[in-house]
Amino acid sequence: MSNTQHVRIKDISAALAGQAVEVRGWLRNKPGGKGRYFLWLRDGSGEIQAVAEQSELSESVWADCERIGLESSIIATGTVRQHPKNPDECELLLTDIRVLQEVTDYPIGKKAHGVEFLMKNRHLWLRGAKQSAILRIRSEVQQAFADFFHRRGFYRVDTPIFTPNACEGTTTLFEVDYHGDTVFLAQSGQLYNEADIGALGQVYCFGPVFRAEKSKTRRHLLEFWMLEMEAAYYDHQDNMRFQEEMLAFTVRRVLNNCRADLKILGRDPAKLEPALVTPYPKLRYGECIEIVNDWRAGQLAQAREVGLDEARELLMSGKSVNIRDESFEDKSEQKQRISAFRWGDDFGAPDETAIGASHDRPVFVTNFPVEIKGFYFKDELNDDGTERIDPVFARLQANEPKLVVPGATGHTILGSDLIGSEGAGELIGGSQREDDLKRLEAKIRHHNLPPEFLEWYVDLRRYGNVPHAGFGLGLERTVAWLGGGSDNPLHLRETIAFPRMLHQYEP
Ligand code: 4AD
Ligand code: MG
Repeated sequence: MSNTQHVRIKDISAALAGQAVEVRGWLRNKPGGKGRYFLWLRDGSGEIQAVAEQSELSESVWADCERIGLESSIIATGTVRQHPKNPDECELLLTDIRVLQEVTDYPIGKKAHGVEFLMKNRHLWLRGAKQSAILRIRSEVQQAFADFFHRRGFYRVDTPIFTPNACEGTTTLFEVDYHGDTVFLAQSGQLYNEADIGALGQVYCFGPVFRAEKSKTRRHLLEFWMLEMEAAYYDHQDNMRFQEEMLAFTVRRVLNNCRADLKILGRDPAKLEPALVTPYPKLRYGECIEIVNDWRAGQLAQAREVGLDEARELLMSGKSVNIRDESFEDKSEQKQRISAFRWGDDFGAPDETAIGASHDRPVFVTNFPVEIKGFYFKDELNDDGTERIDPVFARLQANEPKLVVPGATGHTILGSDLIGSEGAGELIGGSQREDDLKRLEAKIRHHNLPPEFLEWYVDLRRYGNVPHAGFGLGLERTVAWLGGGSDNPLHLRETIAFPRMLHQYEP
């Protein structure tokens, strides 16, 4: 056995036909019997069928084939040949087998198991065909990002996980006792990236971030991986261009290198192809208000069994309607009461789906009201530097004041959310950063953030200040979009090996 060439299953092709190879892996399944078994072998890189013919094998090897159960660890030797029915695939004609561990009681069977059982056995569930395909896509995506940044001359810098201050709001912070002091698990590496560009010009970080999210949706994890870019001398437009080019590059890589995995997941590659073409559509927040209200009117029309025009009127006159937001897992949380979307409201998952629905590729929503974004977003001003009022806001305030959240100013920011197609939700959040010292200080006060912890950050506006921009991409949401989309929607818990969710931190 030791003389035979060890190959990984993904590398077995017709070019090896007639040759003896050794495969090191596990038994996925074993249909057959009566003189012939089809041993489905997997080694992490792929799966291949080894045909075990009793007439061709020694008695002891045949006895091994009869005994071994699912997930037994084995080293198999066989001759490569084209699959008789499927000329695109290869199979092995088994010649020998070495059983490292015989398993006969693997807990995950072929019957359907409940989610709770699978999550409890996540350490084993990972081996399933679908779960391992998702992890391979995730790995390819991570590599594609690294390659893209490298080609563009960006440096990778790792940002800290223990942090003294919030970056994305104080409601989702995890506290940690730091030898008597209270610190927080990082929600984002952005503020550190902004310091790092002072040293390196163009940087990215890629690591786990933490959000103490209280609701259980298929789009939220408490620990997830964020890819964050930051570049000196980039403005809001440069930032969006970089994002769409990066995503197109990544989609190309998945289409080129993950065909087999997309097939396992039942994902139609054709649905990803539009995302290869840049630029992506861009809609201002103000323009989305109408799209969202049209969608809401449609929901109301259905619920009340009235025409669209009538539904629109009802909505504008303040009527609300129950809808189901299926991104929530618990049925009790799915029921949501919606009325008209107003300037100053933030989008929920169904709104994002509605905004994405009329496009076959990701869409940027830009220029949100200052009131719904964080302290670091740069204000959108008039060309002469004076305060700008968004024209949609001005029109609504004059004609439909009900559609304006009380206190909203009509001021907007230079930032964007990238909404994935097929209901994938927000994949990326990014912006140009506030580089005006006075404005930044005012925003820190306005957001009630402790200025002493952000003094170092404000310093960046004092010493060699430059316009700059960046973004953060959620890896798990991106993998869910690429690998599932609308074909076989993936839950975020399947896109990371060991998910951390509300009440779920084991194994
Ligand atoms: O929009 P967010 O909160 O942006 C930031 O944290 C910025 N500081 C990033 C930056 O500009 N450097 O998060 C970025 C992305 C979202 O678009 C989403 O894809 C993902 O992170 N995300 C989550 N993914 C899984 N679970 C959660 N709870 C998530 N919250 C955000
Ligand atoms: Mg966001």
